[in-house]
Formats: sequence, structure tokens, C-alpha cells
Amino acid sequence: MTQSEIDFFDNLAPTWDENEVRSTPVRINSILEKLPIKEGMHILDLGTGTGVLIPYLSKLVGTAGNVVAIDLSEGMLSIAKRKYGDLKNVEFHKLDFEEEEIPGVYDIVILYSVYPHLHSPAQTFEWLFKMNIKPGGCIVIAFPSDEKFINNIHHERKSESDHLPPAHILAEMIAGWGFQSEVIVATEEEYIIIIRE
Ligand SMILES: C[S@@+](CC[C@H](N)C(=O)[O-])C[C@H]1O[C@@H](n2cnc3c(N)ncnc32)[C@H](O)[C@@H]1O
Repeated sequence: MTQSEIDFFDNLAPTWDENEVRSTPVRINSILEKLPIKEGMHILDLGTGTGVLIPYLSKLVGTAGNVVAIDLSEGMLSIAKRKYGDLKNVEFHKLDFEEEEIPGVYDIVILYSVYPHLHSPAQTFEWLFKMNIKPGGCIVIAFPSDEKFINNIHHERKSESDHLPPAHILAEMIAGWGFQSEVIVATEEEYIIIIRE
């Protein structure tokens, strides 16, 4: 992440939750129930932001599992910690997940509303599979909307992030990088791709 991207998210952090109208409990539950999450799993929430997924993931994996939440924006991460810092099965790390070593090995890595902010997705996926994902584990790219909604928001906010392609196009791109990729759902409400080695 560049300093201007960090500043961008630090500035958005105080009002993130009140503006995050798409991630309703109904929609988050509907997305998470389509993922292969089981009790006892270890889940990595990359770009956790203010931690919108944390209470849901924490509950799904239970006390036998854990959730590691990562973000480089201190503004975002401090809100996530304030809200969910007392959950026993959740850990927080401030680091650049595309540049720095990520501690731990996981069943599932989730990028929720994060993919367009990646600088080198193919390389990041390769490293995640090599260093942080158990055999048979997967990476999930998910959004609580379609790509048009995301691209409009980024345009309005003058974000430096990249354009998000439609799910079937992104899945083809990812397959071209040598991974298995499957579109689980692509509607106005949900965009989910699961990537395997
Ligand atoms: C659009 S926000 C989404 C936050 C949260 N997942 C949600 O849906 O509310 C993207 C988040 O990813 C973080 N992020 C993006 N690239 C990152 C990187 N390379 N390392 C760590 N955090 C990153 C940003 O700081 C930001 O908090």
C-alpha cells in the first residue's frame, strides 16, 4: 500500500461504519454461508477494515478456531480492535499483506471488498498459497454488491484502486495466472469467487 492509500483509508475510517450500508447482517450471513467455513477453522481476514466480518467469523469458527484480522490503516484497525478486541479467538496485526510476512497458516483467506486495492494480485495469491494456506485451503474474493456498484464508489471517492472486472472475467484472469477459480455467485447483491491452488 502507498502512503496515500493508507491516508485515504485513515480518513474514511471514522465514518466507515455509518456509510457501509451494503454489509447488512442478512447479506454478510448470505455470503458467509456460501463459503466452506467450519467450526474450528483458522481464517485470515485480509483488509479487515473496521472489522465488519469479525463477529460473524468469530462465531462460525468458535473457540476451537481463530480469526486473524489484518490491515495497514491504523485508523481502520483501531476501530476494529475497539469493537472486537475482547473476542478471545480473534487476533489483529497491522501489516502490509502484499509486502510483509503474515504469521500463521489458514484454512480460508478472505478478501472482502479488498480485491481492487491489491497491487500485484497474482504474486500475492502465489505467496499466500506457499506460506499461509493449508493444503486444500482457499482464497475468497467477495463483495456485498456487483462490480458496477464498486467501480462507481471508487470513481466517486477518487480512489486509486483498480477497476473491478465482472466476476466471470476476473475468474478467467485468475485461471490464466495458474490457479483454479470458481464463480460462486455474481448478482447485484453478491460477488464471490473461490480460488484454489
Ligand atoms: C475497502 S476497505 C474494506 C474493509 C472491510 N473488509 C470492509 O468490507 O468493510 C479495504 C481495506 O483493505 C486495507 N488494505 C488494502 N490493501 C492492504 C494491504 N496491502 N495490506 C493491509 N491492508 C490493506 C485497507 O487499509 C482497507 O481498510
